[in-house]
Amino acid sequence: RADDGYRLWLKYDQLPEAGLRKAWLARAKNINVDKNGGPTLQTAAKELQLGLQGLLGRPVPLGAAPGGRGSISLRVTAAPELGREGYRISSQNGKLEITGASEVGVLYGCFALLRQVQTGQLPDQLNLSSQPRIQYRMLNHWDNPNGTVERGYAGSSIWKWLELPERIDPRYQDYARANASIGLNGVVLNNVNASARYLTPEYLRKVAAVAGVLRPYGQRVYLSVLWAAPKVIGGLKTSDPLDPQVKAWWQARTGEIYKAIPDFGGFLVKANSEGEPGPQDYGRNHADGANMLAQALGGHDGIVMWRAFVYKAGSGDRFRQAYEEFQPLDGKFADKVLVQVKNGPIDFQAREPFHPLFGAMPRTPLVLEVQLTQEYLGFATHLVYLGPLIKECLEADTHSQGPGSTVAKVVDGSLEKHSLSGIAGVANIGSDRNWTGHLVGQANWYAFGRLAWDHSLRSEDVAREWASMTLTREPAALAAVLPVLNQSRSIYVRYTTPLGLHHIMGQDIHYGPEPWLARSARPDWTAVYYHKADAAGLGFDRTAAGSDALALYAPGARQRWANPATCPPDYLLWFHHVGWGQQLSTGRTLWDELTTRYYTGTDSVQWMQRQWEQAKPALDPALHADVAARLCIQHREAQWWRDACVLYFQTFARRPLPPGLAPPT
Ligand code: GCU
Repeated sequence: RADDGYRLWLKYDQLPEAGLRKAWLARAKNINVDKNGGPTLQTAAKELQLGLQGLLGRPVPLGAAPGGRGSISLRVTAAPELGREGYRISSQNGKLEITGASEVGVLYGCFALLRQVQTGQLPDQLNLSSQPRIQYRMLNHWDNPNGTVERGYAGSSIWKWLELPERIDPRYQDYARANASIGLNGVVLNNVNASARYLTPEYLRKVAAVAGVLRPYGQRVYLSVLWAAPKVIGGLKTSDPLDPQVKAWWQARTGEIYKAIPDFGGFLVKANSEGEPGPQDYGRNHADGANMLAQALGGHDGIVMWRAFVYKAGSGDRFRQAYEEFQPLDGKFADKVLVQVKNGPIDFQAREPFHPLFGAMPRTPLVLEVQLTQEYLGFATHLVYLGPLIKECLEADTHSQGPGSTVAKVVDGSLEKHSLSGIAGVANIGSDRNWTGHLVGQANWYAFGRLAWDHSLRSEDVAREWASMTLTREPAALAAVLPVLNQSRSIYVRYTTPLGLHHIMGQDIHYGPEPWLARSARPDWTAVYYHKADAAGLGFDRTAAGSDALALYAPGARQRWANPATCPPDYLLWFHHVGWGQQLSTGRTLWDELTTRYYTGTDSVQWMQRQWEQAKPALDPALHADVAARLCIQHREAQWWRDACVLYFQTFARRPLPPGLAPPT
């Protein structure tokens, strides 16, 4: 049967190498687990059994009796060095042991062992331990009650609200398995542009049913809340966070939630952003709002994630706005509040400098929000592996406490000594049979989880893991496919927004080029606002002579971008208005470099197609054909981007294409 992609990276198909199977079979004769353990421990044992039986091609019995040589024991032990969720896999006297300080630690350990088998490692001398560097590792679903998904490109929502709580779609469990297998531990079920409906008793029963499926897999459930809920469903006249009735309403509501879902994780809030209501409607600020919710959570083990994605018409450079609104509130947020910040200052562009709030709010734990759904990166049509994008942000040096103050260290809490830490990925998951529309979208879900667990992993290694588990371990095929994954994001940047161009895509839909967009309800919703092309040159001047957004960064970070002569070309037009004829560090003029990148980027999609063809003999025909077809569309659309942007910018530059580049016809 052709592979439809449903099983993700958890295929558990029999290992092709007889020797490898034999070696593992000798170490996996039975699984030894305490029958009195809780649901997570039993879940761990069953998953390990399922995986090993598939991979090794022989039943692996579960037993409670202490096993002899060749047995695998799952045990919860006092191991404070592993933290709450860490695990250890050790091998002694022919026995394997997976231990954790909690059942969920053992579960993560079982998936880690399966990953070893799936990626073709030998069982000899197996000895590894790992624990997450970031505490809250979440997917944010932008899913609506009516089944649509905001910026979703893989079908409709996987949450069947109309069927819940009576019917539990089997998919919920497979979803939980996938999240647990990559180390995630939390799920915001609904869109940040939230419906108040989720807080009604009717919906809390549904949410509780989903939570019940996710719980054994260590996945806690969270909700996005509509700020105006006290008015919309509570019958109050106000949603003012300082109003005693409003406070009492949230407190009562929170109590109801915890009655239905005892391990409820907390709230995600988008307030006073893009038309959503918020505390500013009552003259209060973000901290007033967040702290009131934190207080409503009271003694429950829950948190508030308050989003910093805000910008308003007429408030100057959009780049600066979240910083200006939030930085002065540093130190004003209650203990249970984390501020959730997108990776870049504008909005999930294909490449952005890191958000200037990182490093600038040392007294507030900041959640890093990245977007897995490819709103600005070609939806589910373009092949873009996001590992490099996520790593680029994590490794960016904020210099806030001198060199080495990376975003990763801000986010994991180590730099500023926070006990809370979090990272969120906006999910790319939908009802499509293969979950993500584009097969490589699965790699982005996978990479997010792995990097959330351990941000020191290399994006290339994560890509190799994913491809080995999902596509093939055949070396020649991997050698063809891995460079495609690893370079796909740079290639996408080249044919859409080279040299630091940003936000020049189609209005509203956010797909395809529309750099000529000049008329809209608001200046910051036009593309010309961002690229600033004129007869002299191109790019947004964010130096002191322009919007001075550069000044938001610590001097060490600012320095990297401040001088157009030394600014890395990838960031140039983010910060400088550069003359068309200006010679860049690449040796070409701006115009020549820009057009060369559009052309070579487009040609590189053909290279991706050739590489993909090379891997064909080793891949499942259905999966191969699906990606090959999407690559054809990608090439056509890369030409569309190239021709549209080159012709449009040429109307300002009034220069011919450099020799060797064929003018668009
Ligand atoms: C983007 C996206 C919106 C989304 C918003 C957000 O602007 O286009 O659909 O609601 O981000 O992150 O809140």
